[in-house]
Amino acid sequence: MSDTILILNGPNLNLLGTREPEIYGATTLANIEARCHAHAEKLGAKVDFRQSNTEGELVDWIQQARDTAIAIVINAAAYTHTSVALHDALKATGLPVVELHLSNVYKRESFRHKSFISSVADGVMCGFGAHGYVLAIDAAKQIAADRAGKT
Ligand code: DQA
Repeated sequence: MSDTILILNGPNLNLLGTREPEIYGATTLANIEARCHAHAEKLGAKVDFRQSNTEGELVDWIQQARDTAIAIVINAAAYTHTSVALHDALKATGLPVVELHLSNVYKRESFRHKSFISSVADGVMCGFGAHGYVLAIDAAKQIAADRAGKT
C-alpha cells in the first residue's frame, strides 16, 4: 500500500480537453494524471489514477482501496449530486477522503450545490481547475499523515 493515494474520476471526465473547455479547461485527463504522478513522486508518494463512467465500478474501487491506499481523492463528477452508493462506499472505507471538482460548483446551477460526498469527506476543494488535483494530493497526504500520527 505504501503511501498510495487513490484518485477517482467519475463520468464524462474522460472527455476533458474537449468537454466545455470554458468551464473545465483545455487540459486532458491524461495530462492531469501525468501531473499527479509527478507531484506525488516529489512527496515520496504514489497515485493510482482511475476514471469510470460506471457508478458500480467506482464503488468497487472504493471498497478495494481499504487494502491498497492511504487516502482517496474523488471527483465523482455528476454522481456527486446523485449517488447514495458512493456516499455509503466512502463512509465504509474509513480512509481520508478529499472531494474535488475542477469547477466552482457553487457558482453554477443549483443542482450542483447538493453533494452526497461532502458529508463523508474530510475536505472539499473546487474551482481551481486542473491544479486542484495537486492541491488535493497535498491535502490527502497530510490528512493521512496526521491520522497516522506522523506529523
Ligand atoms: C465536476 C462538477 C460536476 O457538477 C459535473 O457534473 C462534472 C464535473 C467538476 O469537476 O467541476 O462532471 O465534478
